Amino acid sequence: TNSDTEEKESDDQSAEKLVIGFSQVGAESEWRTANTKSIQNAIKDAGHELKFSDAQQKQENQIKAIRSFITQKVDAIVFSPVVETGFETVLREAKDAGIPVFLVDRAVDVDDDSLWVTFLGSDFVEEGRKAGNWLVEEMADQEGPVNIVELQGTVGSAPAIDRKQGFEEIVSKEDKFEIIKSQTGDFTRAKGKEVMEAFLKSDGENIDVLYSHNYDMAIGAIQAIEEYGLKPGEDIKIIGVDAVRGAFEAMADGKMNVTIECNPLFGPQLVELIEKHAAGGEIEKRIAVEESMYTMDQAEELLPTRKY
Ligand code: AHR
Repeated sequence: TNSDTEEKESDDQSAEKLVIGFSQVGAESEWRTANTKSIQNAIKDAGHELKFSDAQQKQENQIKAIRSFITQKVDAIVFSPVVETGFETVLREAKDAGIPVFLVDRAVDVDDDSLWVTFLGSDFVEEGRKAGNWLVEEMADQEGPVNIVELQGTVGSAPAIDRKQGFEEIVSKEDKFEIIKSQTGDFTRAKGKEVMEAFLKSDGENIDVLYSHNYDMAIGAIQAIEEYGLKPGEDIKIIGVDAVRGAFEAMADGKMNVTIECNPLFGPQLVELIEKHAAGGEIEKRIAVEESMYTMDQAEELLPTRKY
């Protein structure tokens, strides 16, 4: 029958080998490395061809990479934008060329949301709220002021903007919390250490809490705190995002108090979406990744189960 043939055809289409261009942010963090591997492996394991480009945290490199994917007439573009703004033109070029764009991990700020198919990634505002809620509870019996220093992610990036916003939304409800310093450490260990050194130099013993937008900056800061002669996790409470393996190790050593999960292992889910779309299926515009939060006392038990 007619419908049998149609079904056959759509089966064949979904099994079609696709050429997928992937413009990744960079290799700035352990989270990013795990995310790159997850996506690369999922694309290859499904038998598709991957064209990979590492932007080294530079927007101009991403614009170039996407233009090159368009010239090469790839079947789909996977794109994790380093910053939120400034991608409208190149995304329109992709749309005009008929190439679907799948946003992963980070969102873009464009007026026309027909420029991308779906956004698969974490809810960064919620991650910031989780960090804030943990602190409010942890400090419930403590009198103020509670002085917080914040290490922000890359300026203009979705996780830096949203994690700051979610955290502030919660801690601003109580007068005792004060964010005394807030600066970017670009999501890297080296910058995290450097900025924490400067924080310690100016505010030293007054710092009660460090809120770091990712693990790598937190681990750099922990080193700075130890070199300064204070105990991370005790003298200064440490809140980090990502929940990579190293965060569990730091918590098991008593040096980090809590890690908010940001799950990078969505490669297989992404490939399913790309295949479904290629086969003409409907895709939701926003797909969130399920995440949790882990504290120091859970670290030893959970460490062997962590996959990234
Ligand atoms: O966009 C996700 C963030 O980018 C991760 O939390 C951070 O480690 C990475 O660099």
